[in-house]
This record gives sequence, structure tokens and C-alpha cells, in this order.
Amino acid sequence: MTADKVRVGVVGLGYWGPNLARNFDRLPAAELAYCCDLDEDNLARARSLYPNAVVTDDYDWLLADDTLDAIVVATSVPTHYPLGKKALEAGKHTFIEKPIALKASDAEDLLATADAKGVKLMVGHLLEYHPAVRKLKELVDDGSLGKVYYVYANRLNLGKVRTDENALWSFAPHDISVLNFLIGEEPQEVSARGECYLQDGVEDVVFGYIKYPSGVVGHVHVSWLDPHKSRKITVVGSEKMVVFDDMEADRKVTIYDKGATTTRTKFETYGEFVTLHFGDIHIPRIGNEEPLRVEAQHFVDCIRNDAPVLSDGRDALNVVRVLDAMERSLRNGGQPVKTSDLT
Ligand SMILES: NC(=O)c1ccc[n+]([C@@H]2O[C@H](COP(=O)([O-])OP(=O)(O)OC[C@H]3O[C@@H](n4cnc5c(N)ncnc54)[C@H](O)[C@@H]3O)[C@@H](O)[C@H]2O)c1
Repeated sequence: MTADKVRVGVVGLGYWGPNLARNFDRLPAAELAYCCDLDEDNLARARSLYPNAVVTDDYDWLLADDTLDAIVVATSVPTHYPLGKKALEAGKHTFIEKPIALKASDAEDLLATADAKGVKLMVGHLLEYHPAVRKLKELVDDGSLGKVYYVYANRLNLGKVRTDENALWSFAPHDISVLNFLIGEEPQEVSARGECYLQDGVEDVVFGYIKYPSGVVGHVHVSWLDPHKSRKITVVGSEKMVVFDDMEADRKVTIYDKGATTTRTKFETYGEFVTLHFGDIHIPRIGNEEPLRVEAQHFVDCIRNDAPVLSDGRDALNVVRVLDAMERSLRNGGQPVKTSDLT
């Protein structure tokens, strides 16, 4: 670290990487020291935006620079594991975009390498840094919702159709990371069904089901072939229900004082043993910090203060386990797959 600034290099300056470079460049506690990509147009853009950074197509320059503290990997998903592994082996604190790898075994290896090298490993589970998701977490943890029954997420659009990954790998990492974060458990069993309409072997729509050890259930519905643009997470509890709608500008979170309670005795009819209640609807004020800035700041703070990372290697591994298991379930007609069975 020079003058207490964390020196950061960003690799991958396609669609998303420039957002990371911009945020690290603007943090007072960080210095954007390197920009790396294989594409000359992307490098030219970086040169004009960041004249003080070294701009290169050679990743080895970043690895060899002992004064570089951290590497941010924002390349295409299949390269996350090899590039991330090299960064960790070179002793760099490493941030890798989601999903951290394509196989649970690769994610485990990254986690073990970070531990062995004593460096931070963080994954870009951006929504965990979203103020609205923080609010949901607070409501779950302080018991306001009562017992959480189930949580479901919709991430739908008529949007960018990818050829190298299906809608599950492209969209669901964010939702699965939020579900795991809210429920606070490691998923036990998953199943998934999906359909390929536009390209053979690439699912455009996927419905995935997750069971947690306590019995809480999660569901994700992801699609790039849908008339609605929807980014929604709903938590259903015994006392209250809450919806996070990221398409809303000023009512991101809505809390419904609605619920159903049962008093089961053998002789009662349905009408007698289920009581529904319909109370007020409450819209709490949610801060408007940019989640990406919060995420970048967190990475830098954890390095400077040697503090634990929120979206750490374990968090990353748990998401890849779900994706890996869902992918196997998709190939197997929706059969349930236990996350503990993955190799
Ligand atoms: N957090 C979010 O909300 C969010 C949003 C979009 C994308 N992403 C993630 O960001 C990552 C990148 O996605 P994208 O849409 O920007 O992809 P992209 O294809 O637009 O860009 C990837 C870039 O990486 C470069 N690259 C590939 N291999 C390289 C190597 N060995 N050395 C140097 N550069 C290399 C390519 O030249 C390209 O410019 C993915 O992991 C994606 O999941 C995250």
C-alpha cells in the first residue's frame, strides 16, 4: 500500500469492468494502478480515462508487481477460476465477479488458496451491498416477519441473450446469494427445470427450488425471454410479508402486515382453524447509496483493516454449489440434487 492507499488492478474492461474501474478510481482509499484487457478498443478507452494507470494486455504485469495489493477480475465467467487462482497465488487480495467459478470444486480451490496465502477473497455478489437487501436482512433477523416460511425471487426481462451461459448462470447468482444471505443457512437440496427456445442446450427460462436445513424454502425464476422487466424478492413470514422491488424508484421495500395463523384441532372446520389478518402497508425509507460503491469500499476497508469480508469465498462457494447442483438437476429432468453430493 502506498500512502495507505490500496493499489488495485482491474482485469476485464468489457461491459461491467469499467463500472468497477470507475468506482475503485473514485475511492479516496484506493488507487487504480492497472487496467488490463485483451481488446485494443477497451484499452484505448481506459488510457484516456485513467492516464495515471498502467494499461496493458498482459496480465502477468499485474501478477509480477509487488507493489500491487489487489486484483479485481471482471472477465468472462470461464476465465474467473484460472485468472483468480493466479492472482491469489501471487499473494494479491482478490475480488472476482459472480459467479466465482463454474464448478464447486474450483470455488473450493480458490477458497483454500486464499486461506493458504492469507489474503482476502471476495465475490461480486452486488445485491448483498444493496441498502434494500440490508433492510430485508434486518427484518428477518429481528423477528419482525415472524417465522420465515419461504422466499422467492424473480429476475425477468426481454434482454441480452447469451450464447456461452444459460439464464441460470447469468442471472441467478444474485438471487441465490440474497436468499442464502437472508436465510443464513447453507442450502441442502435443490432442483431446477428450464426450457431452451432460442438456442439448443441454452435455457432461456429456469425455475429453481432450494431447500434449507431448517425447512425454509427458496425459489428463483430467471428468464431473458419475458414481457416483464422484473427484479423482485418476496419474503413470506408468519407475521408479515415483505417485497423488495428494484424497479421501483422510491418504494424499494414494502412491508405488508398480512399473515395467516392456524389453531389445529381435530374437530374444527377450515373456517375455524385458519385466521387471516390484513393490516397496514408500510414503506420504510431506504438509503440511496450506490451498491457498487459500497461493495468496492467494503473490499478496500477489509484489506486496510484486515477485517472479514461479507461476500467471502465461503459465500461464493455456497452460490456455486447451488448453481452446479441446479445445472445437474436441469440435465436430469428436474431430479433433486443434494449439495453435499457435489464433487
Ligand atoms: N455484478 C453485476 O451486476 C454484473 C453485471 C454484469 C456482469 N457482471 C459480471 O462481470 C463479468 C464480466 O461480464 P461482462 O458482461 O462485462 O463481459 P464482457 O464479455 O463484456 O467483458 C469481458 C472482458 O474481459 C476481457 N478478457 C477476457 N479474458 C481476458 C484475459 N485473459 N485477460 C484480460 N482480459 C480478458 C475481454 O476482452 C472482455 O473485454 C462476468 O463475471 C459477469 O457475470 C456482473
